[in-house]
Amino acid sequence: MNQTIFSINNPDERVDGLEKVTGKAKYTAEHPLPNMAYGVFVCSTITKGIVKNISTDKAMAAPGAIDVLHFENCPKVPGYQPSAFPDLKNVSEWRGLKVFADNKVRFNGQPIALALAETIESANEVAKLVEVSYQEESFETDFDKLRKDPAKLKTGSSYTRGKSQAYKEAPFYVEAEYNIPIEVHNPMEMHATIAYWENADSLLLYDKTQGPKSTQMAVARLFGLTDKNVRVIAENVGGAYGSALRSWANVPAAVIAAKKIQRPVKVVLTRPQMFSLVGYRPQSWQKLGIGADANGNLMGISHYAISNTSRYEDFREGIVDASRFLYKCDHVDTDYKLLPLDLSTPTWMRGPGEATGCFALECTLDDLAYKLKMDPIAFRVKNFTEIQQESKLPWSAINVKDCYEKGAELIGWKNRKQQPKSLKDKDWYVGYGMGVGVFGAGRGTSTVRGIWHKDGRVVLESAVSDMGAGTATAMVKVAAAALSLPEDKIKFMMGDSDLPPGPTQGGSTTTSTLGSGVHLACEALKDLMKDMAKELHPPFKETSKDDLIVENSRVSLKSNKEVAIAVGDLINKKKVDFVDVVKTSPGLNPRDIQKATNSFSVHFVKVYVHSKTGEVQLKHVVTTGDAGKIISPQTARSQMLGGAVGGIGMALTEEVKIDHSTGKIQNATLGSYQVPRHNMIPHIDVWFTDKPDPYINAIGAKGLGEIAIIGFAAAVSNAVFNATGKRLRDLPITKEKILAAKA
Ligand code: MOS
Repeated sequence: MNQTIFSINNPDERVDGLEKVTGKAKYTAEHPLPNMAYGVFVCSTITKGIVKNISTDKAMAAPGAIDVLHFENCPKVPGYQPSAFPDLKNVSEWRGLKVFADNKVRFNGQPIALALAETIESANEVAKLVEVSYQEESFETDFDKLRKDPAKLKTGSSYTRGKSQAYKEAPFYVEAEYNIPIEVHNPMEMHATIAYWENADSLLLYDKTQGPKSTQMAVARLFGLTDKNVRVIAENVGGAYGSALRSWANVPAAVIAAKKIQRPVKVVLTRPQMFSLVGYRPQSWQKLGIGADANGNLMGISHYAISNTSRYEDFREGIVDASRFLYKCDHVDTDYKLLPLDLSTPTWMRGPGEATGCFALECTLDDLAYKLKMDPIAFRVKNFTEIQQESKLPWSAINVKDCYEKGAELIGWKNRKQQPKSLKDKDWYVGYGMGVGVFGAGRGTSTVRGIWHKDGRVVLESAVSDMGAGTATAMVKVAAAALSLPEDKIKFMMGDSDLPPGPTQGGSTTTSTLGSGVHLACEALKDLMKDMAKELHPPFKETSKDDLIVENSRVSLKSNKEVAIAVGDLINKKKVDFVDVVKTSPGLNPRDIQKATNSFSVHFVKVYVHSKTGEVQLKHVVTTGDAGKIISPQTARSQMLGGAVGGIGMALTEEVKIDHSTGKIQNATLGSYQVPRHNMIPHIDVWFTDKPDPYINAIGAKGLGEIAIIGFAAAVSNAVFNATGKRLRDLPITKEKILAAKA
């Protein structure tokens, strides 16, 4: 708990907190529908090849069996083959795996059949009894080996500013390679879909999604339905971290099955299926070269990266991007390539691209600081710039220097020794490290309906969902500030595609995008109240709207707040129960404001490394964010805590292990895929600059979901180096790797 800005008795609460902790909040799989059938995936046990035969005789003889859906009996799906459905208008090709469309196996664990039964237990049994024979083909899953073969790589993007490889001409330079394994999101709530065809051309879907509207569109286009005939409900989402940014095989499978058997169908993934069916952070290799002059001025940055994708889709992310723009440097070149493997497709995972790239960038900068005998913070401050180096646009706001200063103070940076391995506490080496994170701060379009009821309550509506960040809480705070109303008079409704179109919750943009819509709707509600006051309250008939103010549910004279009428009285005089507005807030194109827009973070850690065993213990974490105005201090703090915990996992424990002789994930359970245990999480201080960004939007707020993790793993690696003199560049940093590393 950061005593500097949050008190333990903070009266703030999450608006959905009570429902969530008492179990009242309903998640996707918890919605009961009459006559529901349960679907369980049968997944391939080979990695590549074709399904020769599926025998369902035994399965269909099991009690409760309804059907087994697979490629041979799968109905034709418009979005699988749009050209075969020329008469359907709203069709587009399904992105990603077209489950049950053919007999091809593309990765180990691919769904090849859906067992449908009366109960979840019987569906599990039916799935087990499905007999599949395969014809196997040779496959490739070994990233470390295959990335060295240029013929296997797909060209991605290249960039050069000034001279390429200029770092090699600098008096001081560092060159290093970094490896990060596949990491998985694994939110608490499994991905789930309930599909119910209310009639032949209208569909009701309960789905775990970060975007009810984007899911609605994707599913409508899969079946050639009008968007409004697909209703997507995602009232509560139990975590996602990016895995629910797109629809995976469970969605079409449930929808196709529900149509085929004419019943609602529920498909819930199992925990092991969560490892291969809903994306992951791709495996990556990076090579960094950074050079500087003796005063610490950067003279060249070269950043090359390869990450894996699947054979059936290209997934790219901005791994090398921050190296192009974050620090002052005239000579920068980057190159990014993809390596297709016989695995499922990766996707965005918290801090996509930058979490990977900033690990390598921030470790290499740390290395170079030691080489220059400079303090790593002083080195970064030396190369600080207010001009985004790639676009050459000034940042809309950048207060990252405040983060260096405050974070250094809170972690006790003054106790750090520049010479590695100089601090010891009994058998433990002690070290301090820091790392910087950056992520784009965008603002998209959102539409919000604001309703003012005659009893004084204000309800705001938008079709977003919240994967847990606390969106409704933040939006209530935006509305309370705009309307000068107590928070308990305001309710935010979401999680239903029938509501006005809201953004997908992703890329750290929800507060900025939706907050702008909420702010605009509230301004419009106040304007409407002033109009109504002039029309319906005689004393205000001749008053200019500029001389009126709306606050605490009253419209009054700015100059004399005793002259007032209650909002409820105005609505009553209109003889209605409520009045409402619908407002669309436009997206922001940074070019229009001639500014670069980003959020920044600086993470600090103090580690102990055992001198005999190599065990790493984090003793203290300070995480600081520069993300504009902080709308909701409690939930923003929680975001930073979660990012730090994710960063600890990335740094020390998380790794998907694949057996390259079978292509199978070996540790697809939470028992064997290690996330940080509670006793690995130290005291975490959270601090924000909390300065409004004057350009990003009317509320001054930028996103912080991604910056919470970006740069964190580097801070840990840098602290381990400071403690031991050993540079660990391959994640996760295990004690075995520490013992094996040379100082
Ligand atoms: Mo975030 S990776 O855009 O959910």
